[in-house]
Amino acid sequence: MSGRFEGKVAFITGIARGQGRAHAVRLAREGADIIGIDLCEQIDTVDYPMANSSDLDETVKLVEGLGRGIVARRADVRDGDALTAAVDAGVAEFGRLDFVVANAGIMPVWGKDSNTMQAWQDCLDVLLTGVLNTVETTYPRLIDQGTGGSIVLTSSMAAVRPMMRTRGGHTLGLLGYSAAKAALINLAQNYASFLANYHVRVNTVNPTGVNTPMIQNEMVEDRFTNGNPEDIKALVNAIPVDAVDPEDIANAVAWLCSDESKFYTGNAMRIDAGASLR
Ligand SMILES: NC(=O)c1ccc[n+]([C@@H]2O[C@H](COP(=O)([O-])OP(=O)(O)OC[C@H]3O[C@@H](n4cnc5c(N)ncnc54)[C@H](O)[C@@H]3O)[C@@H](O)[C@H]2O)c1
Repeated sequence: MSGRFEGKVAFITGIARGQGRAHAVRLAREGADIIGIDLCEQIDTVDYPMANSSDLDETVKLVEGLGRGIVARRADVRDGDALTAAVDAGVAEFGRLDFVVANAGIMPVWGKDSNTMQAWQDCLDVLLTGVLNTVETTYPRLIDQGTGGSIVLTSSMAAVRPMMRTRGGHTLGLLGYSAAKAALINLAQNYASFLANYHVRVNTVNPTGVNTPMIQNEMVEDRFTNGNPEDIKALVNAIPVDAVDPEDIANAVAWLCSDESKFYTGNAMRIDAGASLR
């Protein structure tokens, strides 16, 4: 792999495992130093095990194993001050910031507490306000630095098509997840619009199911086994794969951070194996 990100620094949220880890490893492999945060705690409405501190330690090991620097902190995207402290620490270490990947997320869409207002609220707080906090704490630095940059917001195919087809498919959590992910497309367009003047680009990635612990768990297994087949159809890809891999999304993130996409901004990039064609 070329070192096309040598001397560049990326801030990534939700870095302990899954896609966040894949983005960190991919960008580091191509030369970037990494600033990363993760909650490393359970949120009550989430009915599958969330990441823990040893997951975060493993990401640190992987990035260091590639010979790159990493500043990793436990922090909650709902806490803007904690994000700012983590970014400050990373910029103090590495001297700059180039890329922001707002990836942290939860999926309280099925399971015992999924049809509660708390599940709805947790989705808005983590998936929408958390992304807002991530961008708010970083974009002024990119402007001040004066060398452009790329901001990637992790949305979902849930942003662009209905995820429920029957009454049994309805949960307040799934509505919250979908609404928050849809709002990220709008957020990206507005940020992209006013940051264009500074060559700072803002896009979303909109993945179909990705093979991470978010979907490789009993909650999802139970849904696929016992859910209404009509609702399951909403999750089917056109290209015949059950799900894509975190590295498939990391490929897109790497392209969005690279100069190859220097005039690509304000877009929702579907990496959905054609799911939205169905
Ligand atoms: N896996 C999928 O099928 C899929 C599909 C489309 C979009 N997404 C989105 O991709 C992103 C990454 O998810 P993943 O698949 O890697 O799942 P994951 O559960 O493996 O990873 C999510 C990470 O975010 C962290 N996190 C959660 N809430 C946080 C908070 N409040 N503050 C800081 N960190 C927090 C978790 O601890 C975890 O490490 C999420 O935004 C998710 O909604 C996932």
